[in-house]
Amino acid sequence: MMSIASRCVETESSHVLIMIMNPNNPRSPIPSEHIAPPTSAPIDGNRPCGESIITVAGLMIKFGPRTVLNSITFSVPRCKTTVIIGASGCGKSTLLKLMVGYLKPDAGQILYDGADITTMDDDQLDPVRKRFGILFQNGALFNSMTVGENVALPLVEHTNLDSKIIRMIVKMKLELVGLRGFEDLKPAQISGGMKKRVGLARAIALDPEIVYYDEPSAGLDPITAAVIDDLMVDLSHKLNITSVVVTHHMDSAFKIADNIIMLHGGRIIAQGAPDAFRRSADPLIRQFVEGLADGPVPFQMSADDYIQDLLQVN
Ligand SMILES: Nc1ncnc2c1ncn2[C@@H]1O[C@H](COP(=O)(O)OP(=O)(O)O)[C@@H](O)[C@H]1O
Ligand SMILES: [Mg+2]
Repeated sequence: MMSIASRCVETESSHVLIMIMNPNNPRSPIPSEHIAPPTSAPIDGNRPCGESIITVAGLMIKFGPRTVLNSITFSVPRCKTTVIIGASGCGKSTLLKLMVGYLKPDAGQILYDGADITTMDDDQLDPVRKRFGILFQNGALFNSMTVGENVALPLVEHTNLDSKIIRMIVKMKLELVGLRGFEDLKPAQISGGMKKRVGLARAIALDPEIVYYDEPSAGLDPITAAVIDDLMVDLSHKLNITSVVVTHHMDSAFKIADNIIMLHGGRIIAQGAPDAFRRSADPLIRQFVEGLADGPVPFQMSADDYIQDLLQVN
């Protein structure tokens, strides 16, 4: 793999700093600054938008002998959209699973307003988890339940609200994603894009501060994907939600991100505002931005020596 020299690029428009590191060099500087410029609009009393809500520090995870993520350090600013991009298999979903506490890292910390979730057990994690909603890659709706029942699920599980109130909240959430009136249909009776929207309505059912999205536009046609992008932006603005979105679609990242974090080779190789990525001359970033097959992002991801591997077959 081609090595990338450490360097900084400062854009004129936004004074956003991108630091690109050599992924093979563990001594490379890891950017830990907030990238999106803070705004002064306060939410939630004295917690201003733009201030860090999540800090990931020195995160490392191995699966067997393979280190999938290493030295991952970044901050997520409150009520902004942070997009994590990278090639398929680079560890995006793994990072998301770590951030919601489904996986424990081998090293590092994940702090929500200063509290480290990596050392918490399930009981301690429960109140933290109530602060976020998750839209999984495949929508993960229950096929045996109606749309309304799917959206109601977190409310039934985590609140003592009576069923009439829950039905009202379900209507409000479905209205936000443009699907009020579809309560009684089953997932099999609606399109892929609608399923994503139902998943989104369910993710915001408990009025979360943070919503995690794993590949929200995967498998959708370009128009429906654009609708989902618009919906994410709309919801985060309307509801002051902090969004963390994993995608491999650069066009979607450009559309929705306040801040982009790029993973490659298990490390963060660049982070900054979309504009800084658009202007970057780095071959790795250009390959991603332009969606080219040829470039420094390798096709071959096999870890072991090929000949050795063949000889070990018995
Ligand atoms: N539970 C697991 N056990 C072993 N390997 C895993 C596990 N989860 C993910 N991996 C491996 O970690 C790498 C990153 O996976 P993933 O985070 O799903 O990538 P992405 O979401 O970027 O496509 C892949 O090589 C994948 O095979
Ligand atoms: Mg994934």
